[in-house]
Amino acid sequence: MDTNANNIDALLNKINLDNLPRHIAIIMDGNGRWAKKRFLPRTAGHKEGVERVKEIVEAVGNIGIPYLTLYAFSTENWGRPKEEIDALMKLLVEYLRKELNTLHKNNVKINILGDLERLPDLPKREVYKAVETTKNNIKMQLNIALNYGGRYEIINGIKSLILDVQNNRIKLDDIDEELFKNYLFTKDQPDPDLLIRPSGEKRISNFLLYQIAYTEFVFTDVYWPDFTTEELYKSIIEYQSRKRRFGGIGE
Ligand code: FPP
Repeated sequence: MDTNANNIDALLNKINLDNLPRHIAIIMDGNGRWAKKRFLPRTAGHKEGVERVKEIVEAVGNIGIPYLTLYAFSTENWGRPKEEIDALMKLLVEYLRKELNTLHKNNVKINILGDLERLPDLPKREVYKAVETTKNNIKMQLNIALNYGGRYEIINGIKSLILDVQNNRIKLDDIDEELFKNYLFTKDQPDPDLLIRPSGEKRISNFLLYQIAYTEFVFTDVYWPDFTTEELYKSIIEYQSRKRRFGGIGE
């Protein structure tokens, strides 16, 4: 066995399989800086980033974690140069075309968090196809946040909630924190236990604002294109060293 495989096995052995996070969310950051460091165009960073998407989806599924959310494109990302947006959309289409069969075979259900209507036609079609194809799969849910913003999600949920109250589908007194979760894109899913942000940045960037109330955060300096299975395992080990108290005293 090579050293790399030994390292991965050693890390895997340190993970307590009885205390895994049920839901991991990742802000895939640092593609641009990864490319810049190598004197490559930013899109080369995104391309390598897709390789880590494939690797991490597989690793998360293999270890038995049922929910993974990846932040692929935020509502603010429309402010990037057109060529970069086009390149990201193209990578998304390629990813879905190449990986859909494997994901489906592996019983992965693809959900989209975000408003798909603003996406260009081609990625929109591929995304709908992936969602439709995998809708009955149950081993793992892969949420791809696309044209996603946490504040947008909350406002969107509030609007639907108001409509339901106006149409007497629910009563004002029925509204509580649990009921409101049904109005979010993550309906019927547990909140993330662990949120990982690579690339050294330590902010939330409008990601899952309602859902992260008691999430554990792991920030790491590696750029997303370098976020291998080893890095995933290290983040899970770090998560397992935390004492989660959910506002109580943890006894
Ligand atoms: C942030 O890095 C990354 C993004 C805005 C895009 C993430 C998208 C992918 C990895 C590819 C498409 C996704 C899927 C699911 C196939 P950055 O560009 O902000 O990096 P920087 O902060 O170093 O500039």
